Amino acid sequence: MTDVSVFSDIQKHVPIVGDINLKSPLAYKATRFVAGALNITQMAFAEAYINGLEIPDSILCAIMDRSMSTLFKHFPSLMAPYEWVLKESDRLAESSHELMKLQYDLPQAMLNYMMGDWQVIYPKYSMGLWEKGAIDLEQSQMHMLDQVIERLGIVDGDHILDFGCGWGCVANYIMSKFPNVRFTGLNLSHQQCEYIRGKMQDPHSYLSGSRFTLHEGDLNDAQFSEKFDKILSIGVFCHVGNLTNTFQKLSTFLKSDGKVFIHIFTVRVPNNVSSGFTHKYIFPHGRYWNYDAIPSYNRDLKTIDRWYINGKNYQKTLMEWLRRFDESQEMVKSLDYGMDYAKFRRIWRFYLLLLATAIGSCDGEYNGNGQYLMTHR
Ligand SMILES: C[S@@+](CC[C@H](N)C(=O)[O-])C[C@H]1O[C@@H](n2cnc3c(N)ncnc32)[C@H](O)[C@@H]1O
Repeated sequence: MTDVSVFSDIQKHVPIVGDINLKSPLAYKATRFVAGALNITQMAFAEAYINGLEIPDSILCAIMDRSMSTLFKHFPSLMAPYEWVLKESDRLAESSHELMKLQYDLPQAMLNYMMGDWQVIYPKYSMGLWEKGAIDLEQSQMHMLDQVIERLGIVDGDHILDFGCGWGCVANYIMSKFPNVRFTGLNLSHQQCEYIRGKMQDPHSYLSGSRFTLHEGDLNDAQFSEKFDKILSIGVFCHVGNLTNTFQKLSTFLKSDGKVFIHIFTVRVPNNVSSGFTHKYIFPHGRYWNYDAIPSYNRDLKTIDRWYINGKNYQKTLMEWLRRFDESQEMVKSLDYGMDYAKFRRIWRFYLLLLATAIGSCDGEYNGNGQYLMTHR
């Protein structure tokens, strides 16, 4: 493993309200009580913004940054607003249909413009890699995917499963590099699958032809008759609540010498965290696994390497999405979100600013992206 003692510096900050992992009854109860009270305060602030509180972005971000860095460094256990964040869920992914409605099946014109839709890079809803000198969003996504190719060790001829394949960007880019790679994509979002079906009919797209297969469906129910050389999953495990059963399932899809690559939003604090705001408005039951969570579930798959990617990369991606979101408001306001446009706009601005600030706070060292390379145990 690349980094064995990532917490050595970080864990010196003992949570003052009690270490949630020790679960000593009194400290645990006190921690849960204070975490609940803090969540109510944060939600009141978010609701005020959504309902029209006028506050410049710079001041909003400064308030968020100051409170995030204090929480991450000194009170990480308060960042778990609900008890379910701390333990595994019953299903692989909870609230998956609600998640599609609230997030992934939103009007695609808005999402596609925000994330960018180019010739090879289709909308990609995950971190772009900027630290290698990318000059724009499109190039940052190419650099990110070049690194995935290298870390997963993709070779021509591989058959790859993309678990939560979004708009097909990852498959399209990788197939543009390898003439004999085949992809199978799994996605529950009907609107994203419709985008992919359009590309499957477009002779200029690498998704057309026989190298790409699409499965529209829920990862809770996914079954495949064949086994894959590689499995990758980028930006999906914040929706996975049960690592044990998910790894068990993925292991049945993987050839005996196959490899799995997982890219997640992660936190380098002792427990998993979540946000009351994103749970209500953006990602129902979304949780951010702590950096050690994946390697600690070595039952059916084992982690053989891992990497932490500084949060400044995702912060820059999110700020670029916000700039494009703001730039496209003339088009965005004409779409149907099932709610008042002004409210929708404020929810999304709060979401992008909150996430960008959280992931960039503490110089990106606490909240960033984690990547894991796994094999059969
Ligand atoms: C943040 S996006 C990432 C998409 C893509 N991997 C990328 O990097 O652009 C998460 C993806 O997971 C899919 N997803 C979330 N929950 C799912 C579920 N229960 N079953 C299948 N797909 C799911 C979403 O529809 C979406 O395509």
